[in-house]
Amino acid sequence: MLTTHRSRAPAYLDFLQGFTGLLLALFIVGHILFEASILFGPDAMERMTLFFEGYYLFGERHPAIVTILAAIIFTLFVVHAALAVRKIPSTWRQYRTFRNHMKRFRHEDTSLWMVQVMTGFAMFFLAPVHIYMMMANPSKIGPYLSAQRVVEGWMWPLYLVLLFCVVLHAFVGLYRLALKWGWFEGRNYRKSRKAMKQILRASIVLYIVIGLASLSAYVSIGLDIKNGSVKVEP
Ligand code: HEM
Repeated sequence: MLTTHRSRAPAYLDFLQGFTGLLLALFIVGHILFEASILFGPDAMERMTLFFEGYYLFGERHPAIVTILAAIIFTLFVVHAALAVRKIPSTWRQYRTFRNHMKRFRHEDTSLWMVQVMTGFAMFFLAPVHIYMMMANPSKIGPYLSAQRVVEGWMWPLYLVLLFCVVLHAFVGLYRLALKWGWFEGRNYRKSRKAMKQILRASIVLYIVIGLASLSAYVSIGLDIKNGSVKVEP
């Protein structure tokens, strides 16, 4: 008698990929807002930094908390990337088949998947640079030290590209998870899908605008430090 044993591993791995992606996307949704505190002035960003260092809880700064948080994020990032890499077309032939499929169907959701592959690939190289820096130098975060890193440490080009990649990747990812796991499906599937797509577009635009505004604020403070009009203690 022939018995077929179907492994559940692919389903578990797929769930784990989605779950780690969900946690990372939620982190980014918060991260860009916390970091935008600079738009309310250096003092607001300073207070945010103190909050994450546990100052309001322990009465003194513990930058190690940021190191622990960054290590958790790094681990999630590695697990998520390792699981996602299985699905990237790995040969020219696979890629060509997918492109022909995409052209033939002109289906927006299939093209969104390609956006995720491309932004995910870019983040393989960009994100670890930033996360490692945060993990290794947690006490060098703050309105002036961050601004100095952005300008004099030449981080702004990396942040500019990373911002577009991470916002697209996170929101497209959330949209695809919502479809896959049936969140907000409602009674009328077509209608809710259309509404979700509108929320997706609006969120991407909003987060890119907030991110660009924050980055400009860091650059502006960083330039003031560089030309000597603002002094930073070493
Ligand atoms: C716990 C880990 C993390 C911490 C503590 C952290 C902290 C920060 C801080 C303080 C800044 C301001 C600039 C600076 O100080 O250099 C910044 C900027 C930025 N971070 Fe992170 N970050 C973390 C993880 C991530 C991850 C995982 C991503 C994306 C994959 C990311 C994407 C960005 C981007 C795109 C910017 C520039 C944002 C803008 O243009 O407004 N960060 N981060």
